[in-house]
Amino acid sequence: MTKVLITGGAGFIGSFLAHKLVANGDKVIVVDDLSMGRLENLTDIKDEIVFYKHTVCDEQFMHDLLLKGNFDYIYYLAAVSSVADSVVRPWYTHLVNQESVVNTLEFIRTNHLPIKKFLFTSSAAVYGNTADFPKTENSHVDPLTPYAIDKYASERYTVDYGRLYDIPTVAVRFFNVYGPRQNPNSEYSGVLSIVTKCLKENKPFTLYGDGSQTRDFIYVEDVVDALIKISTETDELTVYNIANGDETPLIDVIRTYENIAGSKLNIIKKEARLGDISKSRADVSKLKSIGFKPQWSLHDGLTNYWKYYSKN
Ligand code: UD1
Repeated sequence: MTKVLITGGAGFIGSFLAHKLVANGDKVIVVDDLSMGRLENLTDIKDEIVFYKHTVCDEQFMHDLLLKGNFDYIYYLAAVSSVADSVVRPWYTHLVNQESVVNTLEFIRTNHLPIKKFLFTSSAAVYGNTADFPKTENSHVDPLTPYAIDKYASERYTVDYGRLYDIPTVAVRFFNVYGPRQNPNSEYSGVLSIVTKCLKENKPFTLYGDGSQTRDFIYVEDVVDALIKISTETDELTVYNIANGDETPLIDVIRTYENIAGSKLNIIKKEARLGDISKSRADVSKLKSIGFKPQWSLHDGLTNYWKYYSKN
């Protein structure tokens, strides 16, 4: 039986990945300190997985787990995913977002652990505000925050450990992932999680800017398919963008969502956020070249999201 470790497996994307791998018949082990993730995200599969409430920064714990685990695949999703938090607590978030990653890679190297893949999850944040458009994996990077710097460093370490020490590694850069279970509770949460909450609870939504800013939104289940494909069907030591490859103006997404929800969002307009990117789109040719095709249109993804949120 294939054994899989998911760090951050109680989080938004990690929990979807855990569900999918359990459904595929894999043995899934989750490590999550529940700082961002929630145990409820794993309720449906709680009897089928092994769960450790633990930080990935605890070296001894991670070493013991890696040594005893005999993992085939390691999906590294544990992170402090709030950019704003990384600006407030750069040292702490650095320990989680970079040091824990290198520590895990180093342990795999020095103990010759026979893994099939180590996959690290990075972010489109590494591109910063560079002019290249759309973003290919070879576009310039300009990581502007501790979060982006750590993500960039960790993805380089990941690919480099692969090249230097012959470890099967790969890294991915998420664009704007949306879907059920995304935590809407900070003003820096994914915009569609905030829109969902405001629609549902009839609360005012603050729109920064005029809504013409575009984003490349991808539904979480497509992200999970991409992650599994990349880890099981490629050997290239490289980085992949994970996105749809389309750009949609935020205001259009909001209008579509209003139609689906059958109610109007109470929009309050404010100045665009400092440093906000006006256009974002990924070039996904590399991901497509390995046979990935997104299955969820924005309309279908939002419909499913709304259905889920209305039930829960
Ligand atoms: C996303 C990432 C961020 C990363 C950046 C790099 C998330 C949650 N954020 O930011 O970590 O640095 O990509 O490309 O994935 N908005 C509103 N009202 C709100 C919230 C947001 O109008 O209440 C607007 C924002 O100003 C922005 C757009 O919605 O223009 C999308 O915001 P957000 O979901 O935070 O994502 P990014 O800005 O793309």
